[in-house]
Amino acid sequence: MPSTATAPDHAQEAAERLLSPGHAAIVGLQWGDEGKGQTVDLLTPHFQAIARFNGGNNAGHSVHVGNEKFALHLLPSGITHPGVLCVIGNGVVVDPSPETGLLKEIQTLADRGITVDADKLQISNRAHVVMPYHRVEDGLYEALAKAGKSEITAGAIGTTGRGIGRAYADKAHRSTAIRMGDLLVPDRLHDQLRPILRIKNALLQALADLAGVEYTPFELDTLLRQAADWANALGPMIGDTTQALLDIENNPTSGGGRVLFEGANAALLDVDHGTYPYVTSSTTSALGAATGTGLAPRHLHNVLGVAKAYTSRVGGGPHPTELLDATGEHIRQTGNEFGTTTGRPRRVGWLDLTAIKYSAQLNGCTALVLTGLSVLAGLPELKLAVAYEHDGQRLDTFPADAFVLEQATPIYQTLPGFPTGTDDATAFADLPDAAKAYVQAVEDFVGIPIKLVCVGPKRSQALPR
Ligand code: GDP
Ligand code: IMO
Ligand code: MG
Repeated sequence: MPSTATAPDHAQEAAERLLSPGHAAIVGLQWGDEGKGQTVDLLTPHFQAIARFNGGNNAGHSVHVGNEKFALHLLPSGITHPGVLCVIGNGVVVDPSPETGLLKEIQTLADRGITVDADKLQISNRAHVVMPYHRVEDGLYEALAKAGKSEITAGAIGTTGRGIGRAYADKAHRSTAIRMGDLLVPDRLHDQLRPILRIKNALLQALADLAGVEYTPFELDTLLRQAADWANALGPMIGDTTQALLDIENNPTSGGGRVLFEGANAALLDVDHGTYPYVTSSTTSALGAATGTGLAPRHLHNVLGVAKAYTSRVGGGPHPTELLDATGEHIRQTGNEFGTTTGRPRRVGWLDLTAIKYSAQLNGCTALVLTGLSVLAGLPELKLAVAYEHDGQRLDTFPADAFVLEQATPIYQTLPGFPTGTDDATAFADLPDAAKAYVQAVEDFVGIPIKLVCVGPKRSQALPR
């Protein structure tokens, strides 16, 4: 099992720079894949619990431990560390299945020598279940939108196809929802699932007819058998995680335990504050940490916003600084910008400072982490979007309307590039002056201190500043 003993000395220094007493949230400031997993992994030894509060296995957080790389989807990114409780909070939607979901992820870790049991992982009984029909529903809506047959959405969202939005829709709908706790009460589950399945089969058949594809109805007995298997495997881990986190928070022997809230997805994908409708279906900012875990925000004193030194986006929606040229391809290849969850090539572009400032304010960030700096090395000049132009007017703030953003052109500030070799740096002070100036320009614009700069995804490449 990988051990925290392999962490370099500056993990401790990073924590000292980034954290004051109290809980912390780590959140993405762009459209996802900023490198949240790396910072969570680095700071985990300073917390008693790591709690996911939103999203589901649409997230893909990569964590590098020594020479090993872990891609985590539902499991918190602190899972490789011994002695810390990992929590999947009530705000998460959980696909339990061994084919596509949590049980698959747990098995993958077991194959690599990491045991995930009830001492290590607690799953909220209030978290909603992503059922197999949610994935089919997700796929059918996307197929309809892509084929231009749908008046349901403005266009294909380009979802991860994991059924996330459909599970959250059923949560809001209430009468068609299943929660993790329901899996533990088979008779009740049977009575819940029977009417749900009649509705789902009718709905999915209608969607399939519209899309012109075949549909095989889900069978009650098969789903109940699957659910019984999930309950059997996960049952000991399912419980009241709000109480478990309160017990940690109120623990008198530790003087109050600390919780690290791990955000999934990112601010610009937030269902309320992101580029709607091209968003995911949960509260992705630090604002969701309380509702998604049940812990009131009174001890949440640290909100660390993670931004990549350039922008990436997967799926549809506006991306004003997108690079569709050779520079974009260079960044994609150098940054290995292919989805951790779906393998899709990410749409990369220059850093959008207006967007990051908006996200940092939304989250109430106390410090920033800037990742991916070395990916820009070797480019002759670097551009930072500092405003937009729309309809002949300058916009200095991030527009609430995604369709305005879609039509907006970035106004750039240009900085000199810096030479390659930055990924070997072992201290921020060793970086070339032009790289330091780039970091300073970001900090000056956003107005929040950048305390950690990552020149690659390994623990040793996270440099305190
Ligand atoms: P997360 O979802 O925010 O945890 O981030 P992912 O692990 O999904 O994606 C991070 C992406 O950024 C990967 O494609 C990395 O190859 C790329 N990347 C480039 N530079 C860095 C870096 O300095 N740190 C990290 N963590 N990722 C980097
Ligand atoms: P992490 O946590 C990047 C995007 C999808 C799609 C939109 C809606 O790894 O940063 P969904 O399946 O959630 O209904 O898809 O949101 N998306 C992400 N993009 N990183 C993620 O997570 C994402 N989670 C969702 O690509 O555009
Ligand atoms: Mg990711």
